[in-house]
Amino acid sequence: MGLLDKKFIVLGVTGGIAAYRTCELARMLVKDGAGVQAVLTGAAAEMVGPVTFQALTGRPAEVGRGGNLAASGMAHIDLSQRADLIVIAPATANTLAKISWGMADNLLTTAVLSSTCPVILAPAMNTRMWNNPLTRENLERLQRLERMILVGPAVGSLACGEEGAGRMEEPGAIFEAVRTVLSVKDLKGRHVLVSAGPTREPLDPVRYLSNRSSGKMGYALVAAAVRRGAKVTLVSGPTGLEAPWGARVVPVETAAGMARAVLKHLAKCDVLLMAAAVADFELRKIARKKIKKSQAGLSISLKPTPDILLRVGQQKPKCLLVGFAAETGNPVPEAQRKLKAKKLDLVVANDVSLPDAGFDVDTNRVHLVDGKDNRELPLLSKEEVAERILDRVVRMLARKRG
Ligand code: CTP
Repeated sequence: MGLLDKKFIVLGVTGGIAAYRTCELARMLVKDGAGVQAVLTGAAAEMVGPVTFQALTGRPAEVGRGGNLAASGMAHIDLSQRADLIVIAPATANTLAKISWGMADNLLTTAVLSSTCPVILAPAMNTRMWNNPLTRENLERLQRLERMILVGPAVGSLACGEEGAGRMEEPGAIFEAVRTVLSVKDLKGRHVLVSAGPTREPLDPVRYLSNRSSGKMGYALVAAAVRRGAKVTLVSGPTGLEAPWGARVVPVETAAGMARAVLKHLAKCDVLLMAAAVADFELRKIARKKIKKSQAGLSISLKPTPDILLRVGQQKPKCLLVGFAAETGNPVPEAQRKLKAKKLDLVVANDVSLPDAGFDVDTNRVHLVDGKDNRELPLLSKEEVAERILDRVVRMLARKRG
């Protein structure tokens, strides 16, 4: 079950070269459970055929002034009334201008004018068109309406061969914006601090000690908290993941660096989700020059890294503290021990020796352990696990306040 289950989305496509990238967006929306009605302008249909959108969404795509819907008794008014959201990607300067002036000369602009739901606009155009004072003025007028949400454009190479602002935002980012707009904002006004990924402890200028954490669980928590309206700060060790949309990212390398960053941001936060796999050991002495392999029989001397959560727990901060315990074997007894030892409110524990709950996989099987209870969740995607953890956090925050 996706987050967009039971949502009905009108996907507007206007005549920009980026229209071919909207096919990917259509696929993502459908895969996440949404019902999608593609509405193309005449110019868009010259870029990508309606048959492609029909195949991707399972519904006949509308073109220009429409026809299929009217024939089946659903006028543009019904379409806009049924829609939970309208997303227009790419949105050309021409369509933005028309919407900003309340014009309704095709099915898409008519649907927007008769709608009351949020409208996501992902502009795509030449940089000079984007910077033109007329376009600026149109955008200003559009953004006076709270329900008009601009996503992008990105800066990059444009279809016309030029470089600059005007490139349609990545389909993944538009998809995330759609899910954010349609999520319940039960963390609005809250500041969530998340740590994620591994840390790297240097041996010499070219080598380090680290672990197999991918950062996926922590990044899923960040995305979920952003969707729910929280202000999110992510303290991230090195990962191969794209910076999550809508969060402030503080990159760190070592456990000591992570400790500094977490302690710095702690005072302002309502929840700390310590999902990072902090390296437990660092070198007593880091070699200043590359260690040569001719140094036969090399041995290294280690010392423990600062235990960040332990330190945080000792400070008895006002915020909720959530720790993670990656164990091999039954994780519950260890989770209970860590809960007490580090003075935590909740521990999310898993057995990383299971093939579907370990490092670098997209699923997880976790236990939520607090002072009273141990709840085992079924096998879920890391995204769903993040939602369930935040459901619990929201309840705990409400209790704390009450
Ligand atoms: N943690 C931390 N600082 C460390 C090590 C761990 O803040 N130096 C945090 C982790 O981010 C996690 C929790 O403590 O939220 C538990 O981490 P884990 O590695 O499972 O436990 P440890 O306390 O390191 O104990 P052990 O390695 O013996 O299992």
